[in-house]
Amino acid sequence: MSMRALMIALLLPLAGSVTAAGFNAEKFVANNCARCHDSSVYTRADRRVQSLRQLDTQVRRCDSMVGTKLFEDDINLLVDYLNQRYYHF
Ligand code: HEC
Repeated sequence: MSMRALMIALLLPLAGSVTAAGFNAEKFVANNCARCHDSSVYTRADRRVQSLRQLDTQVRRCDSMVGTKLFEDDINLLVDYLNQRYYHF
């Protein structure tokens, strides 16, 4: 792969993650949510979130702590992602 093609391949996903359409939940969680807790809080035996509704509430609470002011659509994508990957409600 040429250097130019490599740069484009590396930069495109970054550019996409700032728009609602190109939102990548997995990357977002890894980059923004792992600062305070890693993914083990989603799977621990005594996890607090016990329903889809609580998951939605908690994601919003954490989003406002992070100060990222996510779009409504992106919040929903994050909730879907965490639910599919960890919670399975
Ligand atoms: C400013 C620190 C901070 C950041 C950044 C943060 N969180 Fe949290 N989060 C917390 C705290 C504190 C808890 C409660 C942990 C506990 O109960 O032990 C928590 C708990 C959670 C839980 C519930 C875990 C359970 O017990 O079921 C979820 C889901 C969650 N966070 C999602 C997110 C997502 C998604 C992001 C990124 C948008 C994020 N968090 C970023 C502080 C943060």
